[in-house]
Amino acid sequence: MNPAKRRTVIAGNWKMNFTPAQAKEFIKNVTPLVAGKDNCDIIFCAPYVTIAAAMEAAEGTNIKIGAENVHFAPKGAYTGEVSAEMLRAIGVEYVIVGHSERRQYFAETDETVNLRTKAALAAGMKVILCLGEVKEERLAGITDEVVGMQTKLDLAGITAEELKNVIIAYEPVWAIGTGLTATPEQAQETCAVIRKVVAGLYGEEVAEGVTIQYGGSMNDANAAELLAKPDVDGGLIGGASLVPEKFAAIVEAAQ
Ligand code: 13P
Repeated sequence: MNPAKRRTVIAGNWKMNFTPAQAKEFIKNVTPLVAGKDNCDIIFCAPYVTIAAAMEAAEGTNIKIGAENVHFAPKGAYTGEVSAEMLRAIGVEYVIVGHSERRQYFAETDETVNLRTKAALAAGMKVILCLGEVKEERLAGITDEVVGMQTKLDLAGITAEELKNVIIAYEPVWAIGTGLTATPEQAQETCAVIRKVVAGLYGEEVAEGVTIQYGGSMNDANAAELLAKPDVDGGLIGGASLVPEKFAAIVEAAQ
């Protein structure tokens, strides 16, 4: 983290978990554990049907609720999709775009990730843009090239002004849901590579202000050493974001 230069953001990605009632219960339980922890932004990204209940439960707290995806078209014949305008209409401020599970299971490409990012930004939302290499790419020694290419393609056409509303989440795919965490050194190294690519696109000063999270089996036991790295500006947390005590411990590590 480098709080002097950029905001630390600890975000939960609930994925396909929690009914509205379960989300309310979770928010009720986690609220007192993270109250007053103002050195980071705290966000939970929820399934579409759970967003409203979570927002209601989080009202008046330091917790913000986001979505896990958004479609790029303003409206139309896209069965099962949700537009940026729809999310804004219910007060959603944050949205995850380009998660590896979307890329892997739902044919998301850098092109559609870029379109979704632009649509969310145009609607006034903040985007958590996910990218990261798969295991074969890391083993082949091409991680830097892969994340560099994703960064360039996913941010294509996005202005420096718009970039202020983009958080990048570096999520090595091999570390997601596997219990295998990148070492703090690996996380630092790749987050720094991403920042360098952003600097190449937008200049050093802009890049220094961009929050770059790490995601992939981050939990209460490893968060402190990951967040101690200068280019790791927060976490995007899956499994551990479903357990109030574990998530709160990660927020604590960011203080
Ligand atoms: P896990 O923390 O469960 O590995 O998930 C990480 C993730 O995909 C967050 O978006």
